[in-house]
Amino acid sequence: MKFTLFFLLTVGGLAACGEVADTRPGQPVKSRQMAFKEIVKHFEPMGVMLRKGQFNAERFASLAAAFKERQAAPWPHFGPDTNYPPTKATAEVWAQPDAFEKERQAFLAAGDRLVAAAQTQDRDRVVVAYEVLHDTCKHCHRQFKQN
Ligand code: HEC
Repeated sequence: MKFTLFFLLTVGGLAACGEVADTRPGQPVKSRQMAFKEIVKHFEPMGVMLRKGQFNAERFASLAAAFKERQAAPWPHFGPDTNYPPTKATAEVWAQPDAFEKERQAFLAAGDRLVAAAQTQDRDRVVVAYEVLHDTCKHCHRQFKQN
């Protein structure tokens, strides 16, 4: 199984102090980072469940639904002129809006497919849908998020 705790570890590390504060009105950078943290908080437990071989169809379905509810949150905070510290976004987000939008749509569609797979309660389908979703995170990050 290749489901890793990578994201949880990342988020834990980021909680450390010494970060640049987002001083802009409405804190767009902070807001979208928090939204991604909420996403990962609901994404990771599904991976843990699959990795440990403790698939519980009902619990998984409720996690998938909770995840789905958070999928839309970060995007409105990527307004024009919001590429400033402490962002970890690359300038490509604003330079390549169509490509970014394509990644976002793939992510949302993969979330829908995960919810649908969870409703079948079929573990094999859930595993595939979870991996496809995970790939959309990684694929977008490759171009649009700094490492
Ligand atoms: C369409 C592109 C895209 C997709 C899809 C995407 N992300 Fe991100 N993610 C970003 C960008 C851009 C940032 C940097 C935001 C910033 O710092 O301004 C980011 C930041 C993050 C962060 C760091 C938050 C912080 O405080 O630094 C985490 C964790 C994260 N994403 C997890 C995920 C997970 C998990 C998924 C999939 C379930 C996912 N992302 C899907 C673009 C994406």
